[in-house]
Order: sequence, then structure tokens, then C-alpha cells
Amino acid sequence: MRKKIAAANWKMHLNWDEAKELIKQLLDQNPAIPPLHQVIIAVPFPYLGMAAQLISGRSGFAIAAQNCYHKSSGAYTGEVSSSMLASMAIRYCIIGHSERRKYQQETPAQLSEKLQLCFSQAITPIFCCGEPLTIRENGDPCDYVRSQLSDSLFPLTPEQIAQLIIAYEPIWAIGTGKTASSAQAQEMHLAIRNYLTSTYGSVIAEAIPILYGGSVKGNNADAIFTNPDIDGGLVGGASLNAVEFTAIINALPQ
Ligand code: PGA
Repeated sequence: MRKKIAAANWKMHLNWDEAKELIKQLLDQNPAIPPLHQVIIAVPFPYLGMAAQLISGRSGFAIAAQNCYHKSSGAYTGEVSSSMLASMAIRYCIIGHSERRKYQQETPAQLSEKLQLCFSQAITPIFCCGEPLTIRENGDPCDYVRSQLSDSLFPLTPEQIAQLIIAYEPIWAIGTGKTASSAQAQEMHLAIRNYLTSTYGSVIAEAIPILYGGSVKGNNADAIFTNPDIDGGLVGGASLNAVEFTAIINALPQ
């Protein structure tokens, strides 16, 4: 059985007090988190320690970073390494979000390095992929996403791949209020799963959680999560509201 995951991506939102308050509100909602479910909250770097302290002792919750640098250490002012995250007991890290690919010009080769650095520190990467609108309208979205996967995952060992979480986030659905239809999302998730099966075998492919991201809300999570190859969501805007995010957590399939 694969894990079912509700992951919050706070992006660059909230000040210190607001961040603290949101985690407290979320914990107060007391969402039911059965053993195979996981709630992950990806917070800005300065809040990692505080967030980790607030959730400590609450089973089912974990804190993630939103990025790490593609070098292990050195003279890279302003950057944060995977070993720094590991030294704070951070166990998850988003890698290759489309906003970073776009605004920080992250390349597939750099993403590969980041993935390997995460694995070297026993951090589970949440690897993001997804097509832009032009490809959805005039190209082959499944082919585009398969290339994103093969471009960055190819150096990884099967043992590493088996530890991965993948998030499919169509770029045209992020922060736009448009979601992929349930059928479009399932079609892509199945294409990803088939790619993983043909490249790494069915045991590994069946073990990897594939999350959907892009305008997931409390009122559409059920319809998206009922699909057989969708194992939860990576949630931006709606994760900034404790009630809304709790509804998404509660929509995870049992
Ligand atoms: P959204 O963001 O839920 O606001 O569309 C998702 C994401 O970018 O991870």
C-alpha cells in the first residue's frame, strides 16, 4: 500500500507570527491521520525549526523545505544545503517546483544533483513536474512530463527512486483556480506510473506516491483523490487556511 499524502506548500507567504498561528490552528483542527497517511508542511527556510518544534509529538505530521541548493557546501552565499536540512531533522524537501524552474532557471541537471544530495542525507524529495498551457493545448503533455522525469531521474539508483514522491502540477492550474479535470489528472498520473513501471519495474512504480497539485481546494479534493493513481495533493493557496487544508487532509482516500 502506498502512502496517501497531503502536502502544503506555503511558498513565500506569512510572517513569523502568522506562520506560528497557522500551524497551531491546523493542529487544533485535529485532522484524523491514519498510519498510511502523511501530512507534510513545506514552510520557508526561517520557519523550519519553529514549525518542527510545534508539530513534534504529533504523529502523521512532518515539515519540509521548499528547496535546497545543488551543491553540498561551500561559498554560495544565501543558499541552504541538504545537509543543513538533515541536521535540523528535516525529512522532506520539494525539488523542481515550476516556479523555481521558471524564476531561478533551475535546469534538469541541477535538479538531478539536488535529488542525489537529498538522498545522501536521507531526505525524501518531492519531485515536481508538469506541462505549461501551450503543451496542454498544442503538444503532448504526457510526453513532456515523461521527459521531465527522465531528464532528472536517470542518474538515480532504483533504491533511490523507490523512496521518491512525485508531484504532478500542470503549470496552467497552479494558483489560477483552474484544476485539471479528474480524468485529465488520472490520465497523466497513469502515464507517469506506466513510465516508472517500464523504467524501474512494477514493484517500484507501485510504491511511489504521485500527488496532484494545482488549485486543489476543500471542495474539489474528493473528486481528484478518488482516482486510483492519485495519492494525494501538493497544495498551495488552500494550505494557507487551516479549515480548508484540514478538509483536504480528510479527503485523502482511506
Ligand atoms: P496552488 O499551488 O494550490 O495554489 O495552485 C500548488 C503548488 O504550486 O504547489
